[in-house]
Amino acid sequence: QVNFIALNDGSTINNVQIVVDLSNFDEEMLKLITTGACISVNGELTESIGSGQAAEIQAREIEVLGACDNTYPLQKKGHTMEFLREIAHLRPRTNTFGAVFRIRHNMAIAIHKFFHERGFFYFHTPIITASDCEGAGQMFQVTTKNLYDLKKDENGSIIYDDDFFGKQASLTVSGQLEGELAATALGAIYTFGPTFRAENSNTPRHLAEFWMIEPEVAFNDIIDNMDLAEDFIKYCVQWALDNCYDDVKFLNDMFDKGLIERLQGVLNETFVRLPYTEGIKILEEAVAKGHKFEFPVYWGVDLASEHERFLVEEHFKRPVILTDYPKEIKAFYMKQNEDGKTVRAMDVLFPKIGEIIGGSEREADYNKLMTRIEELNIPMKDMWWYLDTRKFGSCPHSGFGLGFERLLLFVTGMTNIRDVIPFPRTPRNAEF
Ligand code: 4AD
Ligand code: MG
Repeated sequence: QVNFIALNDGSTINNVQIVVDLSNFDEEMLKLITTGACISVNGELTESIGSGQAAEIQAREIEVLGACDNTYPLQKKGHTMEFLREIAHLRPRTNTFGAVFRIRHNMAIAIHKFFHERGFFYFHTPIITASDCEGAGQMFQVTTKNLYDLKKDENGSIIYDDDFFGKQASLTVSGQLEGELAATALGAIYTFGPTFRAENSNTPRHLAEFWMIEPEVAFNDIIDNMDLAEDFIKYCVQWALDNCYDDVKFLNDMFDKGLIERLQGVLNETFVRLPYTEGIKILEEAVAKGHKFEFPVYWGVDLASEHERFLVEEHFKRPVILTDYPKEIKAFYMKQNEDGKTVRAMDVLFPKIGEIIGGSEREADYNKLMTRIEELNIPMKDMWWYLDTRKFGSCPHSGFGLGFERLLLFVTGMTNIRDVIPFPRTPRNAEF
């Protein structure tokens, strides 16, 4: 009499089938081989006569390295994503998360390959910083001060002179400002590291700790920047289909029957390029025709994800690069257009995701940049080094940031960003 063990070492979605001739093994040892147990098998690899696999292993020796009792939460039945999030320390062992994290690795390799092949240098920007790149005030503070005994000045402001860095410091929200310094020296660079945002948005697309890829290129204008963004995403998607097909196919069949088709769709389409003002017109027409949005649409509004997805999924039915946003809703460093109202921003909007990339051509003119910094009351003492790039041999340059987990949402078809990073950090959650 024979029995079968489905064994998996984590290297692929596919199990190897172990054929066990029960008469050759100790019954008590076999009882220890339960779901989740760790075993070592020696035997002969043979062609399989059964369907479902080409080869199997005829076991000669089996050793139980780690038994797994029946309190193991990952029994063979299906589990909800919510439940699996509560056991994030074990979920990489499931076939779904194995697939997601193998794809995550492969995407990181693809990103380095893409930039390296094009002569970009991988530049490391600081994690701890004293400047707020996006100016959105969403920074996590870093301090060694005794929070029970904070010294304050006569206005009630905390004194940081005696803090570790001698000033107020935070975790970075973006490596862009330092990336710009590097681009004006090395030509073309990219960063790829963790970024942190204390935005209290409990959505399926926001993390408090996420990874961002930020290329920055001297002499690129916004058109070059759009070309780079489009080539970059397509390269990553192609890479997933070429190198992770088993895992992508598994996710397609298990969760999202349209996944592979959507990935191939993106490769075949040219992205729409559209000014923000035109985008607003399309949305306003949709509203006039009776389409209901939760949030209002008008020129000047910061588009909500429902607006972005309407343009991409319903109107154009392909990715859209929206450009030339009102300056009020974008960061201080973006190049100002002649109209005095808009800046040379570009957001890449994707089906199911909404914004996947945010970027711009940068304001290269010292005086214009200074004026904007003053208008926005950005403290100059934090910015002198950045302004030096515009003082000493300034040049046109552009760049963007791709949210790594947003890319992974697209490539894996997962619907919650908490499920494409091993240990998600979100409001009120820093477990594991
Ligand atoms: O649009 P953002 O805020 O742009 C910047 O940070 C620029 N400094 C980038 C640059 O020009 N170098 O963020 C860029 C991208 C977004 O398009 C989104 O994909 C992702 O980062 N992102 C987030 N991903 C997960 N969770 C969050 N809270 C995110 N915030 C932004
Ligand atoms: Mg953005």
